[in-house]
Amino acid sequence: MSQLKLSKDYWSSQTVFIMAAVGSAVGLGNLWKFPYITGENGGGAFVLVYLACILLIGIPVLFSELAMGRSGKANPVQAMANIARENGASRLWTLLGFNGVLAGALILSFYTVIAGWAVAYFVESLQGGFIGIDAKGVGEHFSHLLANPFELLFWHTLVSLFTVIVVSKGVKSGIEKAINFMMPGLFLILLVLLGYATTTGAFAQSFNFLFAPDFSKLTWQAVLIAMGHAFFTLSIGLGTMMVYGSYLQKDYSIVKAGLWIAFADTAVALLAGLVIFSIVFANGLEPGAGPGLLFQTLPVAFGEMTGGWFFGTLFFALVIMAAFSSSISLIEPAVSWFDQNWGIKRTKAAWILGGLIWFIGIGTVLSFNEWADVHFLADRTFFDSIDFITANIMLPLGGLLMAVFVAWVFKDETRQQELSLTAGMMKLFLVVLKWITPVAIIVVFASNLVSEEN
Ligand code: PHE
Ligand code: NA
Repeated sequence: MSQLKLSKDYWSSQTVFIMAAVGSAVGLGNLWKFPYITGENGGGAFVLVYLACILLIGIPVLFSELAMGRSGKANPVQAMANIARENGASRLWTLLGFNGVLAGALILSFYTVIAGWAVAYFVESLQGGFIGIDAKGVGEHFSHLLANPFELLFWHTLVSLFTVIVVSKGVKSGIEKAINFMMPGLFLILLVLLGYATTTGAFAQSFNFLFAPDFSKLTWQAVLIAMGHAFFTLSIGLGTMMVYGSYLQKDYSIVKAGLWIAFADTAVALLAGLVIFSIVFANGLEPGAGPGLLFQTLPVAFGEMTGGWFFGTLFFALVIMAAFSSSISLIEPAVSWFDQNWGIKRTKAAWILGGLIWFIGIGTVLSFNEWADVHFLADRTFFDSIDFITANIMLPLGGLLMAVFVAWVFKDETRQQELSLTAGMMKLFLVVLKWITPVAIIVVFASNLVSEEN
C-alpha cells in the first residue's frame, strides 16, 4: 500500500482562501470568453441555460470538489487515491485526477496566449494608443496584432515565464498577495464601465440581448457550450478547486466559500457582458465576432470616455492580474502532483510543465494566422479544438465523476464533516447531487451525440 501523501501548506485565513479561489474563478473566462460565446450563441436563451448550469451543476460540483480536496489532502491524483481507499472504492478513481492534471495543462496552453493579448493591449493603452480611437481603428489594431505570429509568440512567452515564476514560489508567498487588491479593483472598474455603458444609448438593447431569451435559436451544441462554460468559469471539474481545498483548514466553511465564489464569478461575467454588448450595439459591431470581441469593443469605450487613458490602462492591468490568478491555479494541480508524488521540487516542476505548456500554446498562436484554415476537430482550429475538448468534454466529465463520488461513494459522516449542512439542507443537496447534476450532464452529452448525427 502506498504511503499517504499530504499537503502541508495551509491558507493563512478563510478570507485568503476565498480570495484565492475567487481569483482562480474570475479570469479570462468571465471577461473574454463569456461575452464572446454569448454573442456567438445568440444571447438570452444561452445565458439562461448558463445560469441554470451554474446553479444546478456548477455549485453542487464546486462544493463536492472542495470537499474531496480537503478530505483527500493532496494533489488531484493522490487525493483521489487517498479518498478512494478511505471510502473503500476502486483505485481507478485516480484516473479522474489525471484527467484534471491534463485538462489544466491544455487550458493553460491557450490561456497564456489570450492573456498575452491583454498584455499587448495594456502596453498599447499605456502609450496612449487608444486615445480617441473609434470602432474601425480598434478593429484594425486587433487584426494587425493577430496577423503577426511572432508578436503573439512574444507575449505568450512573457506570460508563460511569469506564470512559472509565480508558481515556483508556492502557495503562500506566490498566490496570496496580488489577489488582495485585484478583485475589488476589477469590480470597481467594471462599475465605472457600466456607467459608461448607460451613456451609449444601447444599454437597453444590451440588457435585452443578455436577458430576453429566444429559445427557438437554441441548439444542443449551444447548451453543451453553456454547460462547459459553467465548469470553465468556476474552475471546476479538473482539480484546481480540489488542490485549493487540500490547503483548506478543517474549520473553514466550504459551503460559504463556494457560494461566494459562484456569486462573484457570475456577477463579473454579467457585468462584463452588459458593458461589452452596449459597445457592440452602439457601434454597429457584430455580437458574434468571436474570440476578439472583448479586444474589439472595450478600447472604443476608453477612446471615447473621459479619463479613458487611465481607465483603459488600469482595466488591462486588472485583466492581466485576473488572468494570472487563474493561470497559476491551472498549473497548480500538475505542479503539486510532480512535487508530492514524484519528488520533483516545485520550482523544477513549474519550469518543466511551463515549457511543455508553452510549446503546445504555439498551436494556439498559429490558429489566428498561419493555421487559421487548418482544421483539427471537425471544422475547428487548433485553439477551438483544445478549448472544445477541455471545457466541453474533460471538465464536464470530471465534474460528473466528482458528483458521483461525493453522492454515492463518500461515507455519510465524511460528507457531513466536510459540508456541515443541516439535516434538511443535506437532504436537498443529496437529491440534487445524486439525480439532477449527473443526469443533466449526461443528457447534454447524449443530446449532442444524437443531434450531431443528423
Ligand atoms: N475559471 C477561470 C476563468 O474563468 C479559468 C480556469 C479554469 C481556471 C479552470 C482554473 C481552472 O477564467
Ligand atoms: Na470564471
